[in-house]
Order: sequence, then C-alpha cells, then structure tokens
Amino acid sequence: MRQRHYVRRLAAILLTGVAFAAPAHAIAQNSAAVARSLRVCADPDDLPFSGAKPEPSGLYVELGQLIAQDLGRTFEPVWVLSNFGKRAVRTTLLAKTCDAYIGLPGVKGFMGPAVIYSKPFMHLSYAIMAAAGQPITGLDDLAGKRVAVQFSTPPQTLLANRDDVQSVTFLNPEDAAQALGRHDVDAAFIWGPTAGYINQTVFHGLFRVTPVAGDDMRYPVKIGFARVDEDLRDQIDLALDANHTAIANLAVKYGLPTAAPVILASLPDAPSSPITLATTTEPGAAQSPAPRAADVAATVAAPDDALDPAMVAAGHELFNGTCAHCHGPDAVQSVRKIDLRLLRHRYGDDAQAMFHETVTHGRPAKGMPNWNGIFTKDEFNKIFAYLSSVQTQ
Ligand code: HEC
Repeated sequence: MRQRHYVRRLAAILLTGVAFAAPAHAIAQNSAAVARSLRVCADPDDLPFSGAKPEPSGLYVELGQLIAQDLGRTFEPVWVLSNFGKRAVRTTLLAKTCDAYIGLPGVKGFMGPAVIYSKPFMHLSYAIMAAAGQPITGLDDLAGKRVAVQFSTPPQTLLANRDDVQSVTFLNPEDAAQALGRHDVDAAFIWGPTAGYINQTVFHGLFRVTPVAGDDMRYPVKIGFARVDEDLRDQIDLALDANHTAIANLAVKYGLPTAAPVILASLPDAPSSPITLATTTEPGAAQSPAPRAADVAATVAAPDDALDPAMVAAGHELFNGTCAHCHGPDAVQSVRKIDLRLLRHRYGDDAQAMFHETVTHGRPAKGMPNWNGIFTKDEFNKIFAYLSSVQTQ
C-alpha cells in the first residue's frame, strides 16, 4: 500500500516481508553485451532519495548520475515503488530490469546470496526532531514530553518502555513531523532522512534533528547488484571512493542529519506492553493492569448467530495482525478506553457506523491511526464481524 511522500522507504524495505532468497531462475544470465546506459532502480516518490521530477531529483538519483558519468555510461532511472520492500528488489534487480539498486540496507543476510553489495556509502538512522533550543543528548531529555513516533518502528518500541515519555503514534513520519510543527507534541522520534528533509523544506531549519545510534536505529546503506555483476560492483566501488566529497555535499543539500549520532541505551528486554498511549489516564486503567478473569472469559462467549464464521475468522486474523498491537491480542485489553469488546456496550446500534467512521478517519491526536486506504471496505467489514463476535455484552 502506498503511503504519502517522504515515507522512510529504506526502513520499510528493512522491515517488510519475510526473508526470501530469489530462486535461481530469477537471476537472468549475464548479458553478453554490456548496456551503454547504467540502469538504476529508483523510487519515483521517495524524496530526499529519489523522485521522478527533475528538481530536486533526489540524493540517489544524483549519485547515480555521478557514478554513470565516471563509468562513461548514460544514467537511466528505472522507476519502481520501493515500499514493497524486498519484492521490489526481486522484481527489478534480480529480474535484470536494472543494473544497480542504490540504498539497500547493509544488514547481514538482508536479501540472501542472490544480491551482492558495494561498500557502504553513508549511514542512515532514526533521529529526534525537537526545538533548536532543546539539545538532545540522550533519552532522558525526552522525560515528561509528548513524543511523536511512527507506528511499528524501533523508536515506538523503545519509548513504549519508558513510563516517563508519552508517545503519540502516527502512520507516517511526515504526519509526526507536522504534529511537531503544530506543537501538538514536543518532539518527533522518526526516520532521520525524512525528519531532516522536512525540517529543511517545510520548516526552514526551525528544528534541531539529532541522529541516534543503537540497535536497529542506525545502519549503513549500500548499492545492490545481482550476483553475476561483480565487475560492475567493483567499478562502482571505485566510483564511490572518487565521489566521497560529492556524497557528503549531497547529504547537506538534501537536509540529511549530519551531526554525530547520540548513543541511546540499548533496548531493555522485550516490552511487556507494545505501546504507551498518550491518553490512558482513566483511573480504572492504572488500577487493573491485567485483564480481569471475567473479561477474558467473556471474550470466548458464544458468537452472535448472525455472524458468518468465515468473515469472523478472516477479521480475527486481520485484527491480530494489525490492531492487536494497541488493542490487545484477541481484543483482550484492560485499558477500557481502547477495549474494543465494549463497542456495543458503548455505542449500541451505532457501533458499526462509529467503527467505520473511526477506522477510516483515525483519531490522530489520540494515537489511533487512520486506516483509510490501507484496508478495503470488505476487510473493515471482516474486522467488524470479528469484533462483533467478542463483544462482552
Ligand atoms: C497505534 C495504536 C493503535 C492501533 C494500531 C489501532 N488503534 Fe484503534 N485506537 C487507538 C487508540 C489510542 C484509540 C482511542 C482513541 C480515543 O481515545 O478516542 C483507538 C480507538 C479505536 C476505536 C474507537 C473505540 C471507541 O470505543 O471509541 C476503534 C473502533 C478502533 N480503534 C479500531 C481499530 C482497528 C480496527 C484497528 C486495526 C485496523 C486499530 N484500531 C488499530 C490506537 C490504535
């Protein structure tokens, strides 16, 4: 599914999909004639890295042009939506529709042996965006603050372990940054290149963007090639050396955070609660951290006869895959405000209308993402069917 501009596409590549080694037949034979043009896979809508419009064309596009020039070849972008992650690499690089894929994470075992890599040409990381007069030297500087994070990212997990930080979850990093611009939050802990680029283009450098280091927070980026293209890889490694300064200048041009990264304490053990909600102030919530036995029992009560079991089962899977992260596995949730087993109790006959309104608009200020465009109407109906089957009264 397509998110809006500036999505932290590289992190998406890293996080999406199951590891998958391309089958041997997917790797086309090394073509005898070396193409004159250097075909570089690039996302048409992923600034600051690449964009189909000429100016700004993006850091990876400009780097590809520099490299092509050094190799005496013409630069030819091959547009591909990279947010389908590893699949994008398989259907392009490994199917030989492009020669190089700039910006793959230099993480061990990322694509299996079918892909080989250049040397790393820069490091990218998550970053904390906050007022310029509020230097960030560690996580403690976020104590007592409201911090915007992106759903399902390492910063969200990290902050979920801090009782003294209120995190507010967004689906996109640019929405998180915009919330900071409106002063809805005190800081945004998001994908650094996005933070830097928005700070430069939208906020004209109003905020300070501090990159962070630590587990899952920072990694090197490389250029990927099909395994058969070792020669090309070696030539491009030389070109990367020659363009060292140019790359640093491009990072500045596109607003990438260039300060030394702040080292965060490593993650404590797996979080017991995946998210700290900004609005869990209901007195009852604090007093009953675990679901009461009666509640749990109620969730296995006989489902409504009118419900289609196939719909319920499909909705159950969708719910546990996406919504359970905040609303609890199998909708078991001790925080009443986000206990979706209470929809009927709370809204009666209006429950379905309220459900559709909420999932297609979200309540961004409260930490409920907008799922419009992410699920189809049919999928929403399935989720609702599942929730109907677990209503407690
Ligand atoms: C990132 C956390 C998060 C995720 C993921 C999430 N929600 Fe929510 N949701 C919330 C929060 C927080 C609220 C409460 C908002 C408020 O206080 O008004 C909420 C509220 C709701 C409500 C309204 C509840 C009521 O009683 O008014 C519905 C319905 C809902 N969510 C459905 C879903 C569904 C369906 C999914 C999965 C597709 C989902 N949510 C995923 C955080 C989340």
